Amino acid sequence: DRPRPLVAGNWKMNGLKSSAKVLDEIHAGYTPGLKAKVDLAVCPPATLVGPLALQAVGSRVAIGGQDCHAKESGAFTGNVSAEMLADAGATYVIVGHSERRQYHGEKDVDVCAKAVAAHRAGLTAIVCIGETREEREAGRALSVVKKQLRGSTPVDSNSQNLVVAYEPVWAIGTGLTPTSADVAEVHALIRDELKRLVGKADSARVRILYGGSVKPSNATELMAVENVNGALVGGASLVAADFLAIAGAY
Ligand code: G3H
Repeated sequence: DRPRPLVAGNWKMNGLKSSAKVLDEIHAGYTPGLKAKVDLAVCPPATLVGPLALQAVGSRVAIGGQDCHAKESGAFTGNVSAEMLADAGATYVIVGHSERRQYHGEKDVDVCAKAVAAHRAGLTAIVCIGETREEREAGRALSVVKKQLRGSTPVDSNSQNLVVAYEPVWAIGTGLTPTSADVAEVHALIRDELKRLVGKADSARVRILYGGSVKPSNATELMAVENVNGALVGGASLVAADFLAIAGAY
């Protein structure tokens, strides 16, 4: 019942038309051996979702958005709906990334509404949760993650339309990573919480990703942790060789 691992790249606000070559390199390096072991997804900025999804047709690399609006359409200048991402060829969308929570004031209830929208559009929602440094130092990491998970995941979730990404905020882009024991503790809590959300049988199949300074040099150790079913990779996903090396940790 162990889920097939997923390594997803979050390009954040990076990428121009010329980034097509990164996807080409990923395609070239996604060998049959790697395909047999791990799913890959690339989440470029919204401007590149359509072009990269076209480029990825016929390959096994999935394309995802980095955020979506909760509504299907309407007077929301600057926003992109889940339906638009799906129409452009995306199959995933990240919701509740800590940068959205921090810079755009998104709360659990907003993230949950976005995940509902993702499901409505037929997308798999990658729901991000994770504690800040202050919360970890105060011994509150587990309670914060539990509260975020409960508040950010819709009741219609299942192992096909939900991926959970645990990203300690203090590990994002800092080069710092939690110990394997700390990752194992949080992922075990998430797995346990998923039982109440999607039921015991399906809970084992939900992919729980680790994110935060994942690199080729630490991927083997992090991906070997129990209940870690892949990675959400930021900086290292911008370099095809690094992204592929992380996927190769499986
Ligand atoms: O979504 C990805 C995370 O924010 C991790 O970013 O790998 O650059 O630390 P990072």
